[in-house]
Amino acid sequence: MTFPYSEIVLEHFRHPRNVGQIEDADGKATEGSPSCGDMVSVYIKVDPEKKTISDIKFESYGCASNIATGSIITELAKGKTLDEAKKINWKTASEALGGLPKIKAHCSVLAVEGLRSAVQNYEERHGLVKEKKPTTEDEIHRRLRKVMNPLSGLDLERTNLVKNVQLKDGFVRVVIDLPPDHQFSHSIKEEVKEKIEPLWDIKEVVVEFIA
Ligand code: FES
Repeated sequence: MTFPYSEIVLEHFRHPRNVGQIEDADGKATEGSPSCGDMVSVYIKVDPEKKTISDIKFESYGCASNIATGSIITELAKGKTLDEAKKINWKTASEALGGLPKIKAHCSVLAVEGLRSAVQNYEERHGLVKEKKPTTEDEIHRRLRKVMNPLSGLDLERTNLVKNVQLKDGFVRVVIDLPPDHQFSHSIKEEVKEKIEPLWDIKEVVVEFIA
């Protein structure tokens, strides 16, 4: 199937800007699309005084629309304040790209979600979250849906690797259905902690592997 991509989309797809990782990122996030299973990661460096995005990079494991949107949103977000960056939506991105086929809207939503989550990650890590709602088990499960199971390329929840989640007085226990010495146990553990620990009312996250 071919889609009528604009010249701007094609140009950003062929020469994406700001591709890669930032090793010591101040905020980072990986988002997966429920529609297609593709993923995008966004990394930001933040000027702590001005609260502006001083550097931003992205990695896309998605299609041409996703790569082009990742590229354009990094250009749009660079130099902006965190609040301005959060206002960038798929419509802004799509307009800046000269339009995207409707069937590809979810691809730009994915990239925009990646940017928003990276900003949110920064805010959580720096105690800047304005709406401090108590964390629920649902929120823990929602975050576990953002941790990839490297065995399948899908998330931990969708591949039924989460055996149990307990939340009590700021302590979280997550049980994963894999043996402790599995080759991916260490990286899964790190990623689970990374996703849950920044929540403002969480004191400790314990990840156990039982298979
Ligand atoms: Fe998956 Fe575009 S089809 S990101």
